[in-house]
Amino acid sequence: MKYIKNSFLIEKVNLQKLTKKFETPLYCYSYEKLKHNINNFKLNFKSFSPLICFALKANSNLKIIKEIKKLGLGADVVSKGELMKALKAGVNSKKIVYSGVGKTSSELSYAIDKKILLINSESRSEVLEIEKLAKSKKKIVDIGIRLNPNTDAKTLSQISTGKKENKFGVNEKTFIELVNYIKKSKYINLKCLSVHIGSQIINHKPYEKMLRVIDKLIRKINYKFEFIDLGGGMGISYQESKKKLNYKKYSHAVKKLLKKHDCKIIFEPGRSIIGNTGILVSKVIYIKENQTKNFIILDAAMNDFMRPALYGAKHRIIPLNRKREISKKTYEFVGPICETTDKFLTINKFQKLNEKDLVIICDVGAYGSSLSSNYNLRTKPVEILVKGSKISVVKKRQKLKDLV
Ligand code: LLP
Repeated sequence: MKYIKNSFLIEKVNLQKLTKKFETPLYCYSYEKLKHNINNFKLNFKSFSPLICFALKANSNLKIIKEIKKLGLGADVVSKGELMKALKAGVNSKKIVYSGVGKTSSELSYAIDKKILLINSESRSEVLEIEKLAKSKKKIVDIGIRLNPNTDAKTLSQISTGKKENKFGVNEKTFIELVNYIKKSKYINLKCLSVHIGSQIINHKPYEKMLRVIDKLIRKINYKFEFIDLGGGMGISYQESKKKLNYKKYSHAVKKLLKKHDCKIIFEPGRSIIGNTGILVSKVIYIKENQTKNFIILDAAMNDFMRPALYGAKHRIIPLNRKREISKKTYEFVGPICETTDKFLTINKFQKLNEKDLVIICDVGAYGSSLSSNYNLRTKPVEILVKGSKISVVKKRQKLKDLV
């Protein structure tokens, strides 16, 4: 993705032309970037070749998951819908892990029937439910228990999951009780200790702390796990200048743990695989001026892309066609939805914009389309995957007639 002269290219495709054909708002992904991210992820942890399960919640587009699967990844799912999608994309069930605090009995039953690698359980009640189902099906089910390591991930509070006040996982005391209980069970087999402390983590220290907690606990209970599932959470830089996660240090810390406890590592990355592969192209509908601000009213809104409204997340906005003339005004980029939080970003010194100009909202591949909704009865955007000069529509634009 780059400008050549003043036009924006995704691989070999001119975005202006693409937009003419498919209109806006439009999600567009680069296959090359996806492949690059996956290869990089593998390279970062090469020394212990983990099982990498892509977190479908970050992007659950069937055709994209198929590509991710072809590049060798498994899947991390959190609902029956995601599990069905992963299987439909051809992901091997022995490369699927299932997390979530509230899996229903019917969801668990489906996962058991599909013989997935692990159900990562998050409570005593859930373990008992799995045991009950396994007994009725006369099966032995492989499970993990998710530990809440009470570790601050130093990320946005809304996407932090590893502190004791968060609803995720079980505390150390319950963990130990469950290990002892499962040891005696004829129907469940404890294979994994899992954790996930949060998302958009760019400091390796919380990961180091989490690993120390795991090490201490395993030594205390003296149990041989076949897998340790470290979750995902690896952050990306949404602002070019921002700090990046030090993968070398994270990998080093994991290796240290593996020296003491030999087992297979599982990761569940979402954002780091897909985040920077996607952009959202949008057209300026109107420009509305008042004394202090210019509102740039876009045809994309919080229903298409929720992160700024939901978390105050800042995503770069850049022009699709670059021009020289810079505006002296402050632009607030907003959507047409009837909510004050329906805004993307406030920018000073953007290039001078006119109505009908096109802009690009960057790094929306993760938690973009997957968090979109039909709020205000707006249709969801078309999604395009670019591979070299090849364009595939990976999701059609919704039609109003299906909503009305
Ligand atoms: N594994 C589990 C158990 C998770 O809960 C999550 C994310 C992941 C893996 C993947 O995390 P990632 O590698 O993508 O950080 N909607 C929010 C992010 C919510 C993340 C929820 N769990 C956002 O847009 O920032």
